Amino acid sequence: MGIVIAPSILACDLTRLGESLRAADAAGADWHHLDVMDGHFVPNLTFGPDLVKAVRKVSDRLIDVHLMITDPAKYAEPFIRAGAGMVTFHIEVMPDPRPLLARIRALGAKAGLVVKPKTPIESVFPFLDETDMVLIMTVEPGFTGQKFMPECAAKIAPLRRRAGPGLHIEVDGGISETTAPVVASAGANVAVAGAALYWASDMRAAVAQLRAAFERHYNPHPA
Ligand code: DX5
Ligand code: ZN
Repeated sequence: MGIVIAPSILACDLTRLGESLRAADAAGADWHHLDVMDGHFVPNLTFGPDLVKAVRKVSDRLIDVHLMITDPAKYAEPFIRAGAGMVTFHIEVMPDPRPLLARIRALGAKAGLVVKPKTPIESVFPFLDETDMVLIMTVEPGFTGQKFMPECAAKIAPLRRRAGPGLHIEVDGGISETTAPVVASAGANVAVAGAALYWASDMRAAVAQLRAAFERHYNPHPA
């Protein structure tokens, strides 16, 4: 898979959402990553489908909706109708994710599974044929600007070996030019980054540097 750079809207200046999204597009970002939190699954609250609609008005890039909620089955459809192109949800809340993966795809979006730091990667292995992407969290979900947890990166290579080169493997949490080598060399090709991109003084340079680091180190066949 090619390298995908996905700035996380959670880290942008929400008083200037439109300008921030346009800056990300101009900087060469591929997707917009949108974190949805319900105050139950994670100790924070964020965005609903109306924000997806707002993003859609400004940018034509894929909107990657990360559902950190206890009831993703209830809310996947409104996010897709609002313009989400990818919807991911946590395996921890849905041990049999097959029906929801199928429904997301039937509604015309791509479907992905997410694992929290303490969840074994083997939990998603039975569903890889029905999954467009696996998101491996590299921080405890809930907040932007946290420190990368290197132990989470150990899950990437086993997943890449099992899935082969055709699955998107996304990493989210503390991803930067500094942490890129360890995750990309293990087989991650989709980089979510909040602080490293939206908090940078020059977003164009930050996107270019993150992409270059992933391209330099990406290994679709890790040992
Ligand atoms: C955290 C969110 C992330 C967050 C990443 O729960 O899922 O998408 O915005 O932010 P950084 O890159 O700053 O860790
Ligand atoms: Zn996220």
